[in-house]
Amino acid sequence: MRLILIGPPGAGKGTQARSLAARLKVPQIASGDLLRAAVRDGTELGLRAKRFMDEGALVPDQLVLDMIGNRLDQPDAQAGFILDGFPRTVAQANTLGELLQQRKIGLDKAVAINVPDEEIVGRISGRRTCRKCGAMYHIVHEPPRVSGRCDACGGDLYQRDDDVEATVRARLAVYTKSTEPLLDYYARFGLLARVDGTGAPSEVEQRIVDVLPAR
Ligand code: AP5
Repeated sequence: MRLILIGPPGAGKGTQARSLAARLKVPQIASGDLLRAAVRDGTELGLRAKRFMDEGALVPDQLVLDMIGNRLDQPDAQAGFILDGFPRTVAQANTLGELLQQRKIGLDKAVAINVPDEEIVGRISGRRTCRKCGAMYHIVHEPPRVSGRCDACGGDLYQRDDDVEATVRARLAVYTKSTEPLLDYYARFGLLARVDGTGAPSEVEQRIVDVLPAR
């Protein structure tokens, strides 16, 4: 299965990509996670990307495209993948189309997850992520058993630098301007499905599974 998840910040792309990856046995490829790892490791990509990420702006296409092209060539992505947070512009979508064409493969679905803006700000400000294993929590909806500690590995839970309210609002504006046009783009290819992203994560997952083509 080759799937794209599209949605505003906090729509639940990461949450859904993780559980769908386990269900469909394909890797989650999250551009934001890859960029944050590059920042953490202090690579040249990370140093160049950090400024944009801290402002809630998009990282320049070329930096992201090289990174994703390399990731798609890894052995675990040959049987399929779930792209989370990529593509985010029509230019990225065009290049993804070319990358897939060169590899003689195509997408199965682009799923747009819809969540109202008011709910997004609440979700993101409550998000906590494990520094060690990347597991995600929400201080109200999905709290860890011990405050500040990951249930899965005992790692430290932290709040992302770009999850303060002003930056979240900037990211929402960027989504509307640069990423929302992808909905029409994939609709024109007959690949788009829109899914309600409110309710429990398991309910959202079932809605996504219901729109996927039979394998
Ligand atoms: P990225 O990491 O991709 O962030 P984002 O798109 O803003 O999305 P988020 O990770 O904030 O949210 P999500 O939709 O994954 O929601 P989640 O599941 O975590 O990008 C960060 C930055 O990197 C960008 O701003 C940009 O600078 C750069 N970047 C990344 N990709 C790029 C690209 N392609 N091109 C250029 N730049 C790029 O859930 C959020 C919270 O809600 C969690 O606490 C979760 O537990 C909770 N939650 C999830 N589902 C539910 C539910 N159903 N009900 C209640 N709570 C829920």
